[in-house]
Amino acid sequence: MINVLIIGAGGQIPRYLIPLLQEQPAITLTLFSRHAARLPYDGMRKITGQASHVPDLVEAMQGQDIVYMNFDDKRITEAVIDAMHQTGVKRIIQAGVLGVYGEVAAPFSAWNSQMLGQSVATNRGIEALEVSDLDYVYMRMTWLYNGSRQEYVASPKGEPFLGAQITRQAIAQFVTDTITGKRQDHRASIGLWEPGSEYKAKPDFY
Ligand SMILES: NC(=O)c1ccc[n+]([C@@H]2O[C@H](COP(=O)([O-])OP(=O)(O)OC[C@H]3O[C@@H](n4cnc5c(N)ncnc54)[C@H](OP(=O)(O)O)[C@@H]3O)[C@@H](O)[C@H]2O)c1
Repeated sequence: MINVLIIGAGGQIPRYLIPLLQEQPAITLTLFSRHAARLPYDGMRKITGQASHVPDLVEAMQGQDIVYMNFDDKRITEAVIDAMHQTGVKRIIQAGVLGVYGEVAAPFSAWNSQMLGQSVATNRGIEALEVSDLDYVYMRMTWLYNGSRQEYVASPKGEPFLGAQITRQAIAQFVTDTITGKRQDHRASIGLWEPGSEYKAKPDFY
């Protein structure tokens, strides 16, 4: 069995991810949220807590194999890493942002910078993960939308970031592929976009 803890389970990506993981007989899910009672899932443990509060995290992490963190904040990532050290959990997948290395390429880079400004790429979880001893996968996700496409391009650190959009369904597929071992990324920072969205000046939905 693989025990998976989802932190930020009330977010939009988990609406796609949780059903995918529920299809996997070898996976047991625990959901951690600021409002766990609102989560519309049966047959799994649900914990209400603050992700910035290490004791809440330590309680939720007992016996877990992998943490999926559905948001990206350096200070809270450091709290999650602290709790992982206290509980012996080694693996984490984090939903993060594009541009943390200034890697976004033209023509998309102009629109992306205009929309986000420069500040988005600093104080991110990747800064804490890269100096940790953990087995992490940090997802540098491009602009998200809700749709049924499942395909993704996974771009390693060091390559230019080319894609302008991706579905939350495809992100959920990438996370599932990582958890189930279909993908083997370790201590990796992966750019994610939809095939065919390379060299767009902006997402189609803007
Ligand atoms: N929209 C885009 O184009 C885009 C692109 C790249 C990255 N992202 C980022 O990707 C992440 C996942 O996407 P999504 O669509 O699933 O986002 P979302 O619907 O905003 O979900 C994020 C969840 O993370 C938890 N969370 C966020 N900030 C928190 C905090 N300070 N303390 C504790 N929990 C916190 C909350 O979970 P609970 O409600 O369960 O507590 C929240 O529902 C988000 O952080 C988003 O900003 C978005």
